[in-house]
Amino acid sequence: MQKKGLIPPHGGELVNLVVSDARRAELEQAAGTLPRIALQDREQCDLELLAIGAMSPLRGFMNEADFHAVCDAMRLADGTPWPMPITCSVDQATADKLQTGTQVALTDGRDRVLAVMTVEQTYTHDKKKEAEKAYGTTDDAHPGVAIVYGQGDVCLAGKLEVLVPRYDAEFPQYRLTPAQTRAAFEERGWRRVVAFQTRNPIHRAHEYITKCALEIVDGLLIHPLVGETKAGDIPPDVRMKCYEVLIANYYNAKHTMLSVWPAAMRYAGPREAILHALVRKNYGASHFIVGRDHAGVGSYYGTYDAQQIFDQFEPGELGVTPLKFEHAFWCKKSGAMASDKTTNSGKEDRVFLSGTKVREMLSRGERPPAEFTRPEIADILIASMKQ
Ligand code: ADX
Repeated sequence: MQKKGLIPPHGGELVNLVVSDARRAELEQAAGTLPRIALQDREQCDLELLAIGAMSPLRGFMNEADFHAVCDAMRLADGTPWPMPITCSVDQATADKLQTGTQVALTDGRDRVLAVMTVEQTYTHDKKKEAEKAYGTTDDAHPGVAIVYGQGDVCLAGKLEVLVPRYDAEFPQYRLTPAQTRAAFEERGWRRVVAFQTRNPIHRAHEYITKCALEIVDGLLIHPLVGETKAGDIPPDVRMKCYEVLIANYYNAKHTMLSVWPAAMRYAGPREAILHALVRKNYGASHFIVGRDHAGVGSYYGTYDAQQIFDQFEPGELGVTPLKFEHAFWCKKSGAMASDKTTNSGKEDRVFLSGTKVREMLSRGERPPAEFTRPEIADILIASMKQ
């Protein structure tokens, strides 16, 4: 039972894979002659999260036992809840040259060394299984599954020593590690904190559920995902402007904090909701918002699948508490935001706009109704579309 202080990290301790300056100098020198493996975008995001302890208790990319246990049972091989494979993979020809104990340099898109891995295991990347179990579909039209299919056929696991979690990191002033985020909560005197995951500008429904959640805790962490997203999603720099303006105008800064989550979006719906919650627990959040079709895409998942999946764990086992919200909308009859739980109004009384419709309006330079999006946010989005 948590009595005082922030929620403990998943597995009990925050992992830190970033090496000391002295070790970095050694590894930088050694890396010059090591085989180089260029990480894909998602792997680079995962490496950063592993390095800073956001994926605690993981201490590296998954080995074969963890990969299968996670796919089959949403647990690591030691039984700790974990919903998604976190892998680093290469093609067969590259894997054939690697033996146990070989060191490899993991690089970013510009051939800069991020980390050195001492390979302890290579194993077949069962992509079909990953797709089926973690994403619930083997359809390559699913943007998260398409990335899995584009990965290497062999996964690598082994000790990971990170030199630099990310070069040219965007939003440095907002890019707090879990340890820094926890320190910021403590400084503010927050103990119970709700985290909000988003990959969109904050519309009125998001605003409503974050404020409802904030009513029952000490602080709200707005924690937008700023890593790789699919084409068509609004870029993080535009979204960050929206969050800043919205918080300045419509939230109480004493109880609201903004920082970024440098993760790639998987669009895995229910399983990703568990991942999002556990990772935010590592950042110190005791509560996590799960609304309608959390982390969903297209019509792959049911509206509330990402809420129901939490019931597959024993109460308290995940540590972090999901705060589940029904589909929220502006209700004309009540003159307020509402959901099916809180209004008996009919369809005609509800302001509902599809994403496509909103995009069309914004691209014509038209603000959607203020009941859907605050005008300040609409203006930022309209301006970004003109560029
Ligand atoms: S997500 O991929 O990050 O889930 P989005 O940024 O749209 O997408 O959603 C952020 C959070 O708000 C998620 O928990 C989602 O379920 C929730 N959400 C989005 N729209 C609504 C809505 N109209 N009603 C209730 N919850 C919503």
